[in-house]
Amino acid sequence: MDFFNYRDGQLFCEGVPAEKIAKGVGTPAYVYSKATLLHHYRQVADSFKAINPTICFSIKSSGNIHLCRVLAEAGCGFDVTSGGELFRALEAGGDPKKIIYAGVGKTDDEIRMAIDAGIAAFNIESEAEIENIDKVAGEMGKKAIGAVRINPDVDPKTHKKTSTGTKETKFGVDIERAERVFEQYRNLTNLRIAGVHVHIGSPVYEIQPYIDAVNKMTALIDKLKAKGHPIEWLDLGGGFAVDYKKPGQALPVTEHAKALVPLLQGKDYHIALEPGRYMVGNAGILLTKVLYRKQGGEKKFVIVDAGMNDLIRPTLYESYHFVWPATPSEGNVITARDESFVPKNGETVDVVGPICESGDYLAKDRPLPITKRGDLLAVFTAGAYGFAMASNYNNRPRAPEVLVDGDSYKVIRRRETYEDLVAAERV
Ligand code: LLP
Repeated sequence: MDFFNYRDGQLFCEGVPAEKIAKGVGTPAYVYSKATLLHHYRQVADSFKAINPTICFSIKSSGNIHLCRVLAEAGCGFDVTSGGELFRALEAGGDPKKIIYAGVGKTDDEIRMAIDAGIAAFNIESEAEIENIDKVAGEMGKKAIGAVRINPDVDPKTHKKTSTGTKETKFGVDIERAERVFEQYRNLTNLRIAGVHVHIGSPVYEIQPYIDAVNKMTALIDKLKAKGHPIEWLDLGGGFAVDYKKPGQALPVTEHAKALVPLLQGKDYHIALEPGRYMVGNAGILLTKVLYRKQGGEKKFVIVDAGMNDLIRPTLYESYHFVWPATPSEGNVITARDESFVPKNGETVDVVGPICESGDYLAKDRPLPITKRGDLLAVFTAGAYGFAMASNYNNRPRAPEVLVDGDSYKVIRRRETYEDLVAAERV
């Protein structure tokens, strides 16, 4: 569910017309709905209430410190994956005791920063990293705490670039090796290993891979406990999918919870979750304006002012984002965003950006109402891995981020300037 709806013939984000925001801040622009973000956070918390998990928003999906602050104030923790993300989480007022730090390549500086901040735990990805965190903590005269990330060899059935839970990916310790690793590092001086972490991939559209992963992990924890390892928590990672193509494409988190809570209830260890996309994916859109139209062979192109530097998902993962005019022509005001909707008096077009690559597109072979120069388009479900993956490629200043709260909006990240583009450079 989200609060981007068409009424009175135009797109609203909560109580604010998209056209009004575009007039105010220009395009391209990312627009988030606070109510949607909080709704999703509460939905995750409520549906898993019976096992009272720690919810750690995965900052990599959308890290604006204002958004993070909204979540921190609601009680949410953070999953970070770099020193920069840790910095963001802390700037946003995140409680270090609810921050977990994952990633296969933590540097010594990053490890020191996290230990100094007093984070809840490292999610540790290899034997070499276990030894290094123990060493770095020792040099600091401090104690670190961590979970071992396990690669459960479960296929999340998602894009190959975002599958992490199968063998032959760089993530975690193979499940077959897990018991040996816990044995080997039972008595470290400066690192206490007390948890198990798993993250199978993103986005995951089916429940079964989660059930398989949870069953493998709980069985592993039973074995570890039988050998005297004090396992205090199981972190299940993130990955819950969202509706990109039509309502109901993804399962609501309530369905995941229904299947997973019974497998986890009554355990004597704590549960953590790291959702990113589920919380913010449908809480954000990208607004862009039509610049030109052109024809190439049989193909029609609608050239807009947002490009792959603003939203790289279509070209990087062949991802589908629903695109629709903010003020559709007659007969094209939609009640649901559904890929099968056939526009009245429509045309099939590629929606492309201004960047000098043919991979620069937001939508391909897309039936759309006929648009003209100046029309505003909304690219939906862009809240997760949208701005977060934006770049300055082709020296394009990054778009502003706007947060809508009820009937008002505010800029939570200004549009970058040309000066910003060269600010860190020296002649
Ligand atoms: N935990 C860990 C350890 C992760 O690696 C990730 C995502 C998450 C949690 C959050 O997953 P989520 O709940 O957001 O699905 N750029 C890609 C997605 C990459 C996901 C990377 N890891 C995309 O745009 O689809």
